[in-house]
Amino acid sequence: MADTVSPAGTDRSADTDTRPGSRPGGTAALGTSSVARIGYGAMGLERHHDNPDAAVAVVRRAVELGVDHIDTAQFYGNGFVNDVLRRALKPDEGVVIVSKVGAVPDPGGQPPLRPAQHPAELRAAVEDNLRALDTDTIGVVNLRRLDVGPGVTATGDQLVDLDDQLAEMVALRDEGKIGGIGLSAVDTDTLRRALPAGIVCVQNAYSLIQREYEDMLELCADEGIGWAPFFPLGSGFPGFPKVVDEPAVRAAASARGVTPAQVGLAWLLAHAPNILLIPGTASIAHLEENVAVGDIALDGDTKAALDAVGAATVSTGDRSPRWPDEAR
Ligand SMILES: NC(=O)c1ccc[n+]([C@@H]2O[C@H](COP(=O)([O-])OP(=O)(O)OC[C@H]3O[C@@H](n4cnc5c(N)ncnc54)[C@H](OP(=O)(O)O)[C@@H]3O)[C@@H](O)[C@H]2O)c1
Repeated sequence: MADTVSPAGTDRSADTDTRPGSRPGGTAALGTSSVARIGYGAMGLERHHDNPDAAVAVVRRAVELGVDHIDTAQFYGNGFVNDVLRRALKPDEGVVIVSKVGAVPDPGGQPPLRPAQHPAELRAAVEDNLRALDTDTIGVVNLRRLDVGPGVTATGDQLVDLDDQLAEMVALRDEGKIGGIGLSAVDTDTLRRALPAGIVCVQNAYSLIQREYEDMLELCADEGIGWAPFFPLGSGFPGFPKVVDEPAVRAAASARGVTPAQVGLAWLLAHAPNILLIPGTASIAHLEENVAVGDIALDGDTKAALDAVGAATVSTGDRSPRWPDEAR
């Protein structure tokens, strides 16, 4: 069960619990909760669409292994993933669910989403999540903006003012429908403007090979905000560079007798104490590998070699990876 602690940023002790075997990856603050730093991204469960029991088994294994932070969205599998989570999770297990609003399904699209950024659409999406998860409150809901890619972009009347969106998110929090407000796919200006609303986590595409948001990660650390990058392994989508293909990652993995994916995730854990992992997998074997990363320590030379891999992306100004056919 997730412990209740002070709001993000005031409980520094949460960042220091790295005892091997205690919680996967140690713990860090996520809003008013202290969660294991190794969580789980549920998007890939869509792959089990024809076998929901297999998807439930992956989630149950995650919880058995100590994962208590799961990332989802009502639009993952058009409701399939949230149905799986409702079936798999017991209300008293203390798993913090983080969902996201700002888009709705667009079957056949690439990606299969369209923007739904208006305050009324954000509220409707929260209500959809509550119904699907059969709960009165969702731990954290990310406002999935469209400031930066990859993925859907906003045009026309879907360019909605941030303050109007935050007012709705704050109202939903005041009503108890969401526990905390996060942001996703944002730039630094948006994050700074949103800080007074009380932001508990930020989710942008970021990994060992894709480090354009280093400045935002540092701002989050300073403000006690969790940084829960999506695509921590480079994603499962074809056309995006993969962490596991990086020669320095492969060399470090073979030197240690671990897998390249484990090296990529271990680097994230070592890089900053406010990083929360949400690697996505539909495979129990991969899930077990990912949770075991909490026991992998990188020595200084290896860390330096891995730091060098994405160093050139830190300040390129090209703020995010893109879908292969996405215009620049
Ligand atoms: N806020 C947003 O806009 C946004 C966007 C995208 C995703 N997300 C969230 O972020 C989470 C993580 O991103 P992601 O799932 O897209 O990408 P990811 O975690 O970078 O990569 C997932 C891919 O890595 C593979 N994988 C996972 N563990 C592995 C291991 N130990 N060894 C080898 N391969 C492994 C998976 O395949 P297998 O299934 O075969 O293991 C899958 O193909 C998602 O699940 C979702 O919850 C948020």
